[in-house]
Amino acid sequence: MEQPERDLVIVVDLGAQYAQMIARRVREAHVYSEIVPRSMPFAEILAKGPKAIILSGGPASVHVDGAPSVDPALYESDLPIFGICYGAQLLARDLGGVVAKTGRGEYGRTDLTVGTTGPLFREQPTSQPVWMSHFDTITEAPADATVFASTGDTPAAAFGDPERRIYGVQFHPEVAHTEHGQDMLKAFLFDVAECRPTWTNVSIIEEAVAEIRAQVGTARVLCGLSGGVDSAVAAALVHKAIGDQLTCVFVDTGLSRKGEAEQVEETFRRQFEVDLVHVKAGDRFLGALDDIVEPERKRKIIGELFIRVFEEVAREYDAAGFLVQGTLYPDIVESGGGENAVIKSHHNVGGLPDDMEFELVEPLRHLFKDEVRAVGEELGLPEEIVWRQPFPGPGLGVRIIGAITPERVAILQEADAIVVEEIRRAGLYREIWQSFAVLPAVRTVGVQGDDRTYAYPIVLRAVTSDDAMTADWARLPYDVLERISSRVINEVPGVNRVAYDITSKPPGTIEWE
Ligand code: XMP
Repeated sequence: MEQPERDLVIVVDLGAQYAQMIARRVREAHVYSEIVPRSMPFAEILAKGPKAIILSGGPASVHVDGAPSVDPALYESDLPIFGICYGAQLLARDLGGVVAKTGRGEYGRTDLTVGTTGPLFREQPTSQPVWMSHFDTITEAPADATVFASTGDTPAAAFGDPERRIYGVQFHPEVAHTEHGQDMLKAFLFDVAECRPTWTNVSIIEEAVAEIRAQVGTARVLCGLSGGVDSAVAAALVHKAIGDQLTCVFVDTGLSRKGEAEQVEETFRRQFEVDLVHVKAGDRFLGALDDIVEPERKRKIIGELFIRVFEEVAREYDAAGFLVQGTLYPDIVESGGGENAVIKSHHNVGGLPDDMEFELVEPLRHLFKDEVRAVGEELGLPEEIVWRQPFPGPGLGVRIIGAITPERVAILQEADAIVVEEIRRAGLYREIWQSFAVLPAVRTVGVQGDDRTYAYPIVLRAVTSDDAMTADWARLPYDVLERISSRVINEVPGVNRVAYDITSKPPGTIEWE
């Protein structure tokens, strides 16, 4: 159901990753935005009640057969349209302009000269840097449009028809390198399309709460907490909506970081007064992992036992119940759009058995990760949870190389806690993707005091990354390395050496197993 309080801007995805970036920028301007596939018929788009349409960039050429295009009915509507890069080329092609194959594309930072100040460029410098990435060139603007700006190679780099409220720019206003890009986007949203900036953390929460209530009624809802940000924010939102109809389950595998179980208890049981089932299953997990050293076997054992334990709790709740999932908006866009299909489907989540059918509650399915964090802060979740670095499902099980014993878990938890503390103290925790300790399966000789030691080394791993697909080892300052090394060796019994892993991904992976 559309909420009357917020305006909607539709971003038509014409390829590549640009659409998500544009939608995020629109939302940063406090206007709600959704991405739709270009195949969506215009009638369906119209049924969503948009205030404006943005056509994204994409890698294709308008000249190739089967090039992405939009439903011509769009042009006959009176909705404001903003075409970006490929989107602008489409406007030019479809509305009487010319897109030429000049053989000279523009890539990267380019100087834009604003000639006629149209609505997009008000109060901006007449010469400004913009980010370009195109091969074909718009040489003539659409028939009724005025050219506002040009670059050395693109005569019609920005054009518009104020009467019909159609604008196009060859460059990318959504990337940070286009210095005034966000100003242009805002000018389109507010001055041209007359959107209202009402999409705020508070309105996001209000809307999610109303939706959750409408979906679950008086039924019971179950939510697995992992200690990570997504499940925590999802749980806090659902709790705000339905209070004690929610039960959270924290399966304590004994392989979480130091203090994590206490943090979950403190936050959810004491601060939020959530009905929390804390399953202390450490002994069962360590028992099942006894003598297991092969990484894939470890993962399988941990994964299967996790499901079994969760299932034992879940069995107490009817098959008619609901299960909360922390699915985010990019997951939905990347799996092909159709978010209604996702909401309605009944899943057996995470391998739960066939006879347990939960309906999913996905309160984060409209949100990007940065919005999830902002909502988490607004709901009063602690910084440690809201900004927690990613942590693998099998936990410390894949950071203890070789046999997993209670003693070795304790060593790694202590060392890891020091690593995190020092990275935080250096102010690096948020900018580093992941920073943690690994416990290898060797021992080395050292000397402490007058005594020879024969103990474990700790490997420090810290990487920068955007998405975990690739990563670079973090250039940590020497003094931070020095503090971590000396604290780990002095404070963690059983450790006499610290090494720093300087492998990027590829060829290494982020985790050691
Ligand atoms: P790798 O080690 O493959 O890790 O470079 C990439 C990212 O995935 C995380 N990771 C996991 N997350 N279950 C998870 O939920 C797993 O089994 C798992 N293994 C690795 C890892 O921490 C990194 O962020």
